[in-house]
Amino acid sequence: MRPDAKKINIAIDGFSACGKSTLAQALARILKYSYIDSGAMYRAVTLFAIRHSIKDDELHLLTSLLTDIKIECIWADLGNKTILNGEDVTDQIRSLEVQKIVSQVSAVPEIRRFLVAQQKEMSKQSGVVMDGRDIGTKVMPDAELKIFMQADLEIRVERRMKELIAKGLTPDRSEILQNLTFRDHIDSTRIDSPLSKAADAKILDNSHMTPEEQLKIVLEWVESTMNR
Ligand code: CDP
Repeated sequence: MRPDAKKINIAIDGFSACGKSTLAQALARILKYSYIDSGAMYRAVTLFAIRHSIKDDELHLLTSLLTDIKIECIWADLGNKTILNGEDVTDQIRSLEVQKIVSQVSAVPEIRRFLVAQQKEMSKQSGVVMDGRDIGTKVMPDAELKIFMQADLEIRVERRMKELIAKGLTPDRSEILQNLTFRDHIDSTRIDSPLSKAADAKILDNSHMTPEEQLKIVLEWVESTMNR
């Protein structure tokens, strides 16, 4: 990439455990862009709900507390950190407890409006890579490069297993399969900005690709987008 190349915005959407954040972080490092993990913001709101003992059938209670929630996303070369009301919750938001209800929390229109407004603000400057479910369609509809990632369900289960094992956990395969299927369903059928491919997004099915192979393909897309 030429050092004087113009900066673009890159939107990455797709199903759970497709490897969106692996790709997004690699791109941000190589291009020296900032990375925003929009899913981490939904996870932080979910953690806030759990800490306030708000159950999945009473999420409407959360909407009146949104002004009490301040989320910061800090991107550094070593990885990204999520700060909830001044506390580093980077690890806590990955818990199974959060995983179980994050998609119900994310389906609440008021919560989406609250976070989408912040994400739009964060993407005002160029040189942003953001991943999620509605980035190319809603948050950054003008992003110069949009990618829609997909991978076979079995492969995604395998990847999530490895991720949790690497963290020293002992995940249950059927529980992961059930959670991914459940979240994919809620994410793609909710009324407010469901997971869907933007008309101008490029599809990347990485079922049989290594992270290096997918990065090579996407860097070619970046290069041709910059030269457009
Ligand atoms: O890491 P994984 O792909 O499993 O999920 P994530 O990207 O951390 O997102 C967690 C959840 O937040 C998703 O299952 C969606 O329900 C929700 N989400 C969303 O609704 N919109 C986004 N832009 C990002 C995440």
